[in-house]
Amino acid sequence: MGDRIDILFPEREVNNRIRQLGEKITLDYRGEEIVLICTLKGASFFACELAKRIDLSLILDFISVTSYGNSTNSSGEVRMIKDLDESIEGKHVIVVEDIVDTGRTLSYLMEILKKRNPKSLKLCTLLDKPARRVTDVQADYIGFSIPDQFVVGYGLDYAQKYRNLPYIGVVNPGR
Ligand code: IMP
Ligand code: MG
Repeated sequence: MGDRIDILFPEREVNNRIRQLGEKITLDYRGEEIVLICTLKGASFFACELAKRIDLSLILDFISVTSYGNSTNSSGEVRMIKDLDESIEGKHVIVVEDIVDTGRTLSYLMEILKKRNPKSLKLCTLLDKPARRVTDVQADYIGFSIPDQFVVGYGLDYAQKYRNLPYIGVVNPGR
């Protein structure tokens, strides 16, 4: 049987929220240049939409880290797959993530980036699942805070599928 997906945030609501985040970031960093770091693959849809809503001098870069585990749970082990193309030393950096769940992936990533001496380092996530946190990672910009449900769409996957859905939905796996 196929998986059933219930819409949690329709496309219009997601886009509205991203526009608000873009406006907030534009105000917060007025007159500065920023580096947006998109974490692959999940945050790519969000990062592109967000970048379009930020009215600042902006550099977009990509990084890829994996956390081992099954399709719905990350383990503690994280590994770098693709590093940034550019140096972030002395720059205002915002890491853009799709979702902060346990926070293990981000806690690893933020540690690595901190050591490269950016001028500032913040975290912007489309979704936050605070109930699942096992680290002290906290996002500075949050699209939506959600309960402990497994979501897909707008870049988020379930076993690599459903990233292309234009909305965010909750998966009810078929058997
Ligand atoms: P963390 O290290 O547990 O915070 O895991 C973060 C990563 O797990 C995210 O970047 C996602 O790739 C994945 N993840 C966690 N929760 C979900 C979810 O509800 N849907 C899709 N992916 C998720
Ligand atoms: Mg991810």
